[in-house]
Amino acid sequence: MNDARQRRKDPLGRILVIIPTYNEVDNIRPIVTRVRTAVPEAHVLVADDNSPDGTGKVADEMAAEDEQVEVLHREGKEGLGAAYLAGFRWGIDNGYDVLVEMDADGSHQPEELPRLLTALKGADLVLGSRWVPGGRVVNWPGHRKFLSRGGSTYSRLLLGVPLRDVTGGYRAFRKETLLGLGMDDVASQGYCFQVDLAHRAVQAGYQVVEVPITFVERERGDSKMNRDIVAEALWRVTAWGVRSRVNQALGRRHTG
Ligand code: GDD
Ligand code: MN
Repeated sequence: MNDARQRRKDPLGRILVIIPTYNEVDNIRPIVTRVRTAVPEAHVLVADDNSPDGTGKVADEMAAEDEQVEVLHREGKEGLGAAYLAGFRWGIDNGYDVLVEMDADGSHQPEELPRLLTALKGADLVLGSRWVPGGRVVNWPGHRKFLSRGGSTYSRLLLGVPLRDVTGGYRAFRKETLLGLGMDDVASQGYCFQVDLAHRAVQAGYQVVEVPITFVERERGDSKMNRDIVAEALWRVTAWGVRSRVNQALGRRHTG
């Protein structure tokens, strides 16, 4: 039996939902509760960057009440990318087979997670996608839609990744995919971490599948998106694109 057929038959194994947090004190309880209800077999890891608003303490309370909830306390705000990398390593070291990324603010609906997990049975990486047919965004201002679609289009064209939503943060990885895409030299700090990982997965030849999701803008707390995060994404994606074009051109010159 080939790998893909074998994969579809095997159960997915142990699932860890990683939720990075920075100042999400009003959101953390509802989101963890919703995950535990929507996918009762999944465990939850909150990766908190020492939030000044006490998110980490609330997460500790939840962990004390529920043995399927864990907290990774980090020293300070180091960006989404660093929090996820630490969470992935913790999950792999602790024997999880599937690592899920999910925002704390309710934008990624836990009730849609079973659909992502079903798709993962036939894939190496599943992206929750706002920009495929059936995908939607609720309550986002025009400039955020423009930025997200523009960022995805720019990344798709420059990097040649055949994906509609490259920047999204609702994802399910098989452990093997994370191990194979080379987490050790990921330098992306902000949201371009998402582009970085999707690009690496495509380049490494993994099967990446997009599943439509409904992204609901947060009602409580503030987005951490800022000018620096956009600037980092723009320069890194441009640099990756230019580098791969230069390599291609040099390669052609060598062989031709
Ligand atoms: N630990 C930690 N450290 N968590 C962070 C940090 C950080 O430095 N920065 C953000 N987060 C957490 C937030 O607390 C939240 O749970 C999640 O990461 C997403 O942050 P938001 O600030 O709510 O992101 P957004 O709604 O503006 O952006 C969404 O769209 C982006 C572009 O498509 C998210 O889905 C992003 O993942 C996505 O890249
Ligand atoms: Mn958000």
